[in-house]
Amino acid sequence: MPKVLVVGAVNVDLVVETDRLPGPGETVVGPTVTRHGGGKGANAAVAAARAGAEVRYCGAVGSDDMAESALAELRHEGVDIADVAALDEVATGMALIVVDSRGENQIAVGAGANGVLDAAVVQRAVDRAAGWAGCVLVSTEIPADAVAAAVEQAAAHGIPCVLNPAPVLPSLIGLMASAPMLTPNTSELRDLHALLLESTDTPAEASVTEQARMVASRAVVPVLVTLGADGVLLADTAGDTITVPAGRVDAVVDTTGAGDTFNGVFAASVADGSTVVEAAKRGVTAASLSIAAVGARTGMPTDEAIRRAL
Ligand code: RIB
Repeated sequence: MPKVLVVGAVNVDLVVETDRLPGPGETVVGPTVTRHGGGKGANAAVAAARAGAEVRYCGAVGSDDMAESALAELRHEGVDIADVAALDEVATGMALIVVDSRGENQIAVGAGANGVLDAAVVQRAVDRAAGWAGCVLVSTEIPADAVAAAVEQAAAHGIPCVLNPAPVLPSLIGLMASAPMLTPNTSELRDLHALLLESTDTPAEASVTEQARMVASRAVVPVLVTLGADGVLLADTAGDTITVPAGRVDAVVDTTGAGDTFNGVFAASVADGSTVVEAAKRGVTAASLSIAAVGARTGMPTDEAIRRAL
């Protein structure tokens, strides 16, 4: 069984489905609000567990009644939550999400406990995972020093690390020496490119492929850009690129969590010893399956469903 440590945020998601997303200052009305498990870290942990990995999750919850339900959902998925800190006097993270009739979303997050996750907690979790984990997956809805602890300790223990820069933090550039695999979407790639741009000749209006090449070769790390319906673009450190197409999609209901599904399944496959291209194929297939239901985790596929789709 592949073994993965996931470090990142856990949220409670409140989701309203509407015909279209609101503009600034605008009110849109949908028929209901539904509550789902969320947070890029916890979502990816669930994706990896459903894909057949043994998963430990490291993050933080608050001291409110949402903490227990957030943790119960993870336990129910078989995710080990021994590395989760329960913090006093802070709320569990919450995301307010609007999903339109095309499955596109708009998300605002109240970080709560995620925003004060202690780097020492993360360092302990990675140390405990040494000799156990085949991959550490980190996303960035947590403090910069907690992200750094995860990436640098993974490198210190020789554990392959996947860094999902969602959102991009300026401090990430300093972590490239630890050689994580980067998994931005196109807007995060643009932010990474802009951070690195000063010292290069790449034009600001560069295409996604040019930006991915530039980030991979400058930072000397593999870059996997998630492209939604167009799959994933992989740029290696030599500047070579290939595209892994998306899987078949029958209905787009809610794209929330598709990136987290990709990351969780990709990390599980890396931990299993797959090549980067094979792992990307599995991740992108799982992400294509995940968008057929409302809620970040609802549509995440099992290992069997991924195999069938492949
Ligand atoms: O990637 C989707 C996730 O982003 C949601 O579950 C929400 O909680 C935010 O963290």
